[in-house]
Amino acid sequence: MSEEDIQQAEEQRIEEALASSDIAIKVCGLKNSFGDQVVHEGLDLDVYRGEIIGVVGGSGTGKSVLMRSIIGLQTPDEGEIHVFGENMVGRLDDEALAIRKRWGVLFQGGALFSTLTVAENVEVPIREYYPNIGGTLRDEIAAYKIRMTGLPTEAGPKYPSELSGGMKKRAGLARALALDPDLLFLDEPTAGLDPIGAAAFDEMTRKLQQTLGLTVFLITHDLDTLYSICDRVAVLADKKVTAVGTIPELLATDHPWIQEYFNGPRGRAATAAVEREKNRAADGQPDGRR
Ligand SMILES: Nc1ncnc2c1ncn2[C@@H]1O[C@H](COP(=O)(O)OP(=O)(O)OP(=O)(O)O)[C@@H](O)[C@H]1O
Ligand SMILES: [Mg+2]
Repeated sequence: MSEEDIQQAEEQRIEEALASSDIAIKVCGLKNSFGDQVVHEGLDLDVYRGEIIGVVGGSGTGKSVLMRSIIGLQTPDEGEIHVFGENMVGRLDDEALAIRKRWGVLFQGGALFSTLTVAENVEVPIREYYPNIGGTLRDEIAAYKIRMTGLPTEAGPKYPSELSGGMKKRAGLARALALDPDLLFLDEPTAGLDPIGAAAFDEMTRKLQQTLGLTVFLITHDLDTLYSICDRVAVLADKKVTAVGTIPELLATDHPWIQEYFNGPRGRAATAAVEREKNRAADGQPDGRR
């Protein structure tokens, strides 16, 4: 066996192990830069299948760039990104395409096409990846996804400019769910929503994740979201994932940003709200919103 064969066999072994493992996304040694600005360096992250992982970090730490790297919109300078066992960096082949079909994305700010109706927006990925699906079936799928996110059927023919902020987020989510994904990327889905709207969106995310068995990569600044629906949290700081774990695990670290973030006044308020909720549930009282 040549050295090349051995290396190939090793790569295949790793890919097979990843494909059958509990890891949905594996990022190793990621480096991203824009000119002189290095955003990520030596960034590693594992996302487990079936979890909701919250991704936090100060503004500009590279959360959205990390998401864009994983979904192939940003080519890293260095590093590997495996999704369901396939290394996706720089790949445009059929196997990579098959993986791309397994995820849905809600971009920061929604990113709906303003000249398309909600239904047409939801149909975009279907048209792109399944051009053979006919108009009637496409309309049915779009209507189903729109209902699934709690929007009224009448929202289908509306344009984004005719929707409230919360409705736009749901429309974006409907589009992200268009291809029945296994993996969902959400970039700040509750930003700009009022607390009740944000709580409702979180609840819906959790329900969808549980019923559809989704893995969710969720970028957020929203402490309530982290406490109420995330299984683990990854913290971006110093150009890498500086810590990852459950919130109690993170609190046990002494990283200044983590302490400030979770133990600052807003962090304490979110913790207190979760405690109140737990006590209410234990007393058998109806749910109280945050
Ligand atoms: N296409 C680009 N060209 C040049 N610089 C970029 C580009 N995209 C992102 N950056 C820079 O990379 C850094 C990280 O950006 P990113 O959007 O990932 O931040 P973020 O953590 O998502 O912040 P926020 O919480 O504000 O959304 C920023 O300094 C940003 O200016
Ligand atoms: Mg961002």
